[in-house]
Amino acid sequence: MSRKIRKAIFPVAGLGTRFLPATKALPKEMLPVVDKPLIQYAVEEAFAAGIEQIIFVTGRGKGALEDHFDHSYELESTLKKRGKSKTLHTVEALIPETGSIVYTRQNQPLGLGHAIWCARDVVGDEPFAVLLADDLVKAEKPVLSQMVEAFKTTQSSMVAVMEVPPQQTDRYGIVGGKREGDKLIRIDSLVEKPAPSEAPTNQAIIGRYILTPEIFDLLKRKEFGAGGEIQITDAMAHLLKTQAIYGYLFDGIRFDCGDKAGFQMANIAYALDNPTIGDEVLHYIKEVAAPHFDTV
Ligand code: G1P
Repeated sequence: MSRKIRKAIFPVAGLGTRFLPATKALPKEMLPVVDKPLIQYAVEEAFAAGIEQIIFVTGRGKGALEDHFDHSYELESTLKKRGKSKTLHTVEALIPETGSIVYTRQNQPLGLGHAIWCARDVVGDEPFAVLLADDLVKAEKPVLSQMVEAFKTTQSSMVAVMEVPPQQTDRYGIVGGKREGDKLIRIDSLVEKPAPSEAPTNQAIIGRYILTPEIFDLLKRKEFGAGGEIQITDAMAHLLKTQAIYGYLFDGIRFDCGDKAGFQMANIAYALDNPTIGDEVLHYIKEVAAPHFDTV
């Protein structure tokens, strides 16, 4: 039987300490790339892939996320009065249909696997997606859409993967396995943040997952792994004993927006592509910044 991916989990409870002080009172997922917060890129990607229900696994101090996807009557009526219909439309368009966003809380910082487990009752017994908003991927066809398409054939759990420099394996979940065609790797090992000397490959998991619901029983065991946290990668390594899991070699450029340099690079890439400010930014890079490069 062919199953559809209808629900997506967004773990958004993290503290964002790498971006302090910016993230002291602002959720890191609200940091903007040009003019859109990271979380909105991820939510738009999910809806574009046919997701019907968004599940935020949130925490203390994350209220701005809820407000972002809700009406702001004062703002909307002011924009209307001022005749700013285009801006009004932009603000209204990002509000999902009533009831299509569900919020649950991760009330202890026990890791990504635990955050996903917190949404078990909202997901129920069906395959689902997980999106990590920190991983922003610029692609013609959004990554989750690429994966949902592949899932129609595999009907198996799947993670987005890309090659990373071998010395960086300790920043990622790493997979090993055999290539099946152009885009898929049939995974035979998964390990969370291995030292370069212990990594089976340099194929890293990027924050897009499709998981079958059996993962929840494995997460329930609450096994603590790398960094003393409950890791989704470890639960998937257990799942591998009973089910196939695929790596999906996506098309697109990934920016690590959980990292200051990656976040700035994302801003440059999206700014250059922006019809309103692209030329101005390009001019700055070429005429002002670049001539300075040799002197720094
Ligand atoms: C998480 C996952 C890791 C994955 C990474 C992708 O790590 O645990 O397997 O490779 O996201 O961004 P984190 O970056 O939250 O430490």
